[in-house]
Amino acid sequence: MAQLWGGRFTKETDQLVYRFNASISFDQKFYKQDIQGSMAHVKMLAKQGILTEDEKEQILKGLEGILADVESGKLEITDKYEDIHSFVEANLIDRIGDAGKKLHTGRSRNDQVALDMRLYTRDEVKETDELVKGLLKVLLRIMEENIETIMPGFTHLQKAQPITLAHHMGAYFEMFKRDRSRLHDIAERMNYCPLGAGALAGTTYPLDRDYTAELLGFYGPMQNSMDAVSDRDYLIEYLSAMSTIMMHLSRFSEEVIIWNSNEYQFVEIDDGYSTGSSIMPQKKNPDIAELVRGKTGRVYGALMSLLTTMKGIPLAYNKDMQEDKELVFDAIDTTKGCLALFTGMMDTISFRKDRMHESAKKGFTNATDAADYLVNHGVPFRDAHGIVGRLVLRCIAEGKSLDDLTLDEYREESPVFENDIYDAISMETCVNRRLTIGAPGKEAMEKVIAGYKEYLNA
Ligand code: ARG
Repeated sequence: MAQLWGGRFTKETDQLVYRFNASISFDQKFYKQDIQGSMAHVKMLAKQGILTEDEKEQILKGLEGILADVESGKLEITDKYEDIHSFVEANLIDRIGDAGKKLHTGRSRNDQVALDMRLYTRDEVKETDELVKGLLKVLLRIMEENIETIMPGFTHLQKAQPITLAHHMGAYFEMFKRDRSRLHDIAERMNYCPLGAGALAGTTYPLDRDYTAELLGFYGPMQNSMDAVSDRDYLIEYLSAMSTIMMHLSRFSEEVIIWNSNEYQFVEIDDGYSTGSSIMPQKKNPDIAELVRGKTGRVYGALMSLLTTMKGIPLAYNKDMQEDKELVFDAIDTTKGCLALFTGMMDTISFRKDRMHESAKKGFTNATDAADYLVNHGVPFRDAHGIVGRLVLRCIAEGKSLDDLTLDEYREESPVFENDIYDAISMETCVNRRLTIGAPGKEAMEKVIAGYKEYLNA
């Protein structure tokens, strides 16, 4: 057991207590950030005359050595230490002696851990954003290739009106675009430095917190030392943003699973992204999509856990806060993993355009347009709705679609119908006449896609 305290104790810590309390098994994840923070702290201490230049140089060299040795595998992080902070400090003292004992001047593990987690998270937020961007690139390609690919649009999972595959993908593009903007907001709001807050009340040393913040790439120091050591809002926001990303991925997965079903056959998931059955030779399962859908629960769980952990904590630091790490690490790994795999699956999926077109045609998705045709010829909409409803009923009974009816059959319901009804209810007409902003019509879609391209290139 190597710990940073003990002077006021007369007894060894119980082994079980030590293990229950220790965090090294997971906080070793930010050894790099811990060393980076210490380096900035030491540079600031020397600039302020709190350490000598020589002490600074010794400490920096010692920290660089530790970093290099951990990275090369020469120095192993073991559970002999309580946490990553103890590990680094103990190793530093082993290497450089007395100067190493000065590293922690004007600092507490409370502001140190607050800094480490913030630095770690700041990088992860950027990486998450890059992964979402990667998915958007794939979606944009699919959109560009499918401006004219007709498929049924659904409400209540019932065929509703024809849309295009580009339009459907565009809905997800919008969702993930908002996710990116949430990540950007978080990155902005969290980019203030807690280091220098001490245990909770700042310190009596003349620290230059602006300088430390600048060295570490923050906009500036956090303005209240109690808040600095006990704020976990940014983690809750990040978990919330990841939960929303997962919710979007899960909805999308659900659609891929439906589209991939034997009944729909709108898509074929690439062999590289499918799995088989141990017993049923014919099976090709959408396991990746199902796992993404399933893992969504884990990320929601992390958000709920941290909200609950935080809700009763009085100011300032309390050990409860150590619980933030495993939750957040797991949520990050899960979300990033799901983003990468889902992107790969979508990049290789093939779309059965024939099946989609056929499905749109068979599902009376042009019934609204047939009613609109009558309205354009002076029939009040409510009457038109009834006329087309009766036509649909007839088609269902005879196993036909609206396009299959003869003009005479149309006229039995209304004399207003002319030969141009067939063109008015063709799938292509139905889609391409929908030209309002955000609609699937070709020209409307092309404008939106041009905007998306600019957005991704910016
Ligand atoms: N492992 C602790 C955490 O993650 C580090 C801070 C410890 N501070 C303390 N006063 N015990 O929160």
